[in-house]
Amino acid sequence: MSIKSGAHALENNAPTRAPSRHTRYLYGVVLLALACFSLSDWASPTTSILSSQVSWPDSTLLYHHKPGTVIPAVCPENPYNNPNLDCGSVIVPKDYFNTSVGVSSVAFGRIKATKPKKGSVFINPGGPGGSGVMLALRTPLLVDIIGPEWDIIGFDPRGIGYTRPATECFSSHDEMTLFNANTVIEQGITVSSIKNTTSSILRDELVIQFRQFLALKESQAKLCGEVMGDELKYMGTANVVRDMDFMSEIFDGEGAKINYWGGSYGSILGAYLVNMLPERVGYAVIDGIADPVAWANEPSHKWPANWVAHAEKTYDLFLNDCSAAGPALCPISEYKGEPIGDIEARLEAFFNTLAVSPLPVPFANRPGFLTSGAARNLLLIFLQRPVLWVEATHSLAEAIAGNGTALHNYMTQRGGSVTRLGVTCIDSPPPRSYKDFPTPEDLAEEGLRALDEASIHFGLSTGISEPDGGCQFWPVKGPERFTGPWNATLEHPMLIVSNTHDPITPMKSGLLVNSLMPNSSVMLIQNGPGHCSLAMKSTCTIKTVRDYFSGIVPKNGTICEVDNKTFQDPDEVAATEMSIEARAIKQLQQAFWSI
Ligand SMILES: *[C@@H]1O[C@H](CO)[C@@H](O)[C@H](O)[C@H]1NC(C)=O
Ligand SMILES: *[C@@H]1O[C@H](CO)[C@@H](O)[C@H](O)[C@H]1NC(C)=O
Ligand SMILES: *[C@@H]1O[C@H](CO)[C@@H](O)[C@H](O)[C@H]1NC(C)=O
Ligand SMILES: *[C@@H]1O[C@H](CO)[C@@H](O)[C@H](O)[C@H]1NC(C)=O
Ligand SMILES: *[C@@H]1O[C@H](CO)[C@@H](O)[C@H](O)[C@H]1NC(C)=O
Ligand SMILES: *[C@@H]1O[C@H](CO)[C@@H](O)[C@H](O)[C@H]1NC(C)=O
Ligand SMILES: *[C@@H]1O[C@H](CO)[C@@H](O)[C@H](O)[C@H]1NC(C)=O
Repeated sequence: MSIKSGAHALENNAPTRAPSRHTRYLYGVVLLALACFSLSDWASPTTSILSSQVSWPDSTLLYHHKPGTVIPAVCPENPYNNPNLDCGSVIVPKDYFNTSVGVSSVAFGRIKATKPKKGSVFINPGGPGGSGVMLALRTPLLVDIIGPEWDIIGFDPRGIGYTRPATECFSSHDEMTLFNANTVIEQGITVSSIKNTTSSILRDELVIQFRQFLALKESQAKLCGEVMGDELKYMGTANVVRDMDFMSEIFDGEGAKINYWGGSYGSILGAYLVNMLPERVGYAVIDGIADPVAWANEPSHKWPANWVAHAEKTYDLFLNDCSAAGPALCPISEYKGEPIGDIEARLEAFFNTLAVSPLPVPFANRPGFLTSGAARNLLLIFLQRPVLWVEATHSLAEAIAGNGTALHNYMTQRGGSVTRLGVTCIDSPPPRSYKDFPTPEDLAEEGLRALDEASIHFGLSTGISEPDGGCQFWPVKGPERFTGPWNATLEHPMLIVSNTHDPITPMKSGLLVNSLMPNSSVMLIQNGPGHCSLAMKSTCTIKTVRDYFSGIVPKNGTICEVDNKTFQDPDEVAATEMSIEARAIKQLQQAFWSI
């Protein structure tokens, strides 16, 4: 099906009714999961989209325009007074396969080139659910990574941020928070011990929690169906690729190449892009790779075992570095050089105690209690962000000593948005029949497999950061679901960036994408921990990416070291002269935290 000709032949249609029985509202996309940082995202409410005073054009006006129209908007914020920013919405066909369905609007924030322009680079911060608009607004120094001769286009994918319609199922942010509060969705899965994965006690504990989980997911999906109706059909990744294609010709002219930079879920969007439209692609960088083949071809409850494939390896590195740093910087150790097994046993004992007796946290931002499932989940989230290890181990040590306030605050500062499901339930294969519906017993089985085969500590712990599941209840299918092949030939090889120790998007997924496109991609390996390369500063990685966008492809298998060790003394860090690379990474990290 030729999209390009179809898209441009579209006629405008009657304004599309905003699909909501509830008052529309805008809330921050706080829980972003598979995002380079948003996996470990705790936006301060004062900086989230929630509080932004927006003067974005009203969606009812947007829907009157023809596809291809660009409507300027005042950028919702410009925290660095970047003079080279502009914002707007592009009117796109809602459904590229049926022109009578009407239009949608895709919001963008653009950092304009300051040198003679070579083209546009579309960026995506992951999630799904992350706002590319906010990433562009909050990271002017991206120019120092991608280059001043490019327009850098942050856009909000379908359903997300300022793009309309947005996936909004609950009538308010508070209603959504209440829905999730103190459930397995918010607290994760608690088990009394992971020592014996054949234990029937463990299996029973899982089944009980997955029963609650499925009931919540069914409730959420039915609510979304009622509120959003057919609008939910258009939130999938394939549709977002069509939007990039459409926007690229509007921004850069017919036949212009699509250039791309994306991390985490953004690697999924990148893999779809290069494989759906290989002849349209110019430069593409994907970082923190999630396995696109599994994403597109397996139901979402099968994904986590894959994601945590290198979680144990990362945990070992964390424990080693903690032991080397000693209690001043890593207070969950008792002395410098303590055997890592002892530190690990201390944490396990803490999780097991919490499983029996949750810890009351009366003075947290939201008073409540800390569960074992939440504490273990948070540890996995901390592993994704080495720059947080000093602070995180202080919070863990406080909790072990009986004060769970800081940990609980990390948990409740996360959102619980349904925008992610809007994407994943369109992308993952729909169950063919009731027979294929995963039962609570099936979910327990899969959880045990993840413990046994991938990560004994974290196989059950992706639920808070990666709240997938229940797609069997999702009310609609998309107009298009891309399922491969994944072996496209590109004019210019794609750059794949993987860390050696990424606890949620393992290097093996990067190598998989590389092996499927051996002549059309190269691997850049950053030797260090964390989720996505920007988890740690590596001047070498930044220079390699910058060179790539100026046409220099690194040799496959190039290894970049990280500049600094983990568990850095905060005073020492503060006293260090900041290079441009260091400032760019810091700004990126802060932006990723907050969107
Ligand atoms: C296209 O969309 C219109 C309006 O929603 C619908 O009535 C029609 O059945 C659709 N056509 C196809 C081929 O799906
Ligand atoms: C693990 O649990 C199973 C089933 O409850 C039991 O038969 C087995 O003895 C246990 N193994 C260990 C090492 O405790
Ligand atoms: C508990 O921890 C919080 C967060 O670190 C801290 O603000 C508070 O003072 C601590 N409370 C006590 C009693 O130590
Ligand atoms: C790509 O993979 C598909 C499906 O596996 C196969 O049919 C096709 O021949 C492959 N194309 C190339 C260029 O290798
Ligand atoms: C890759 O390139 C090599 C050398 O040119 C060639 O032998 C091989 O068939 C190519 N592989 C694919 C999958 O295109
Ligand atoms: C690229 O380099 C990686 C790391 O050395 C290696 O594992 C992979 O096989 C290489 N890919 C190809 C296509 O040769
Ligand atoms: C981090 O690495 C950079 C580059 O190697 C170095 O200049 C800086 O002093 C290091 N910072 C700290 C706090 O060690």
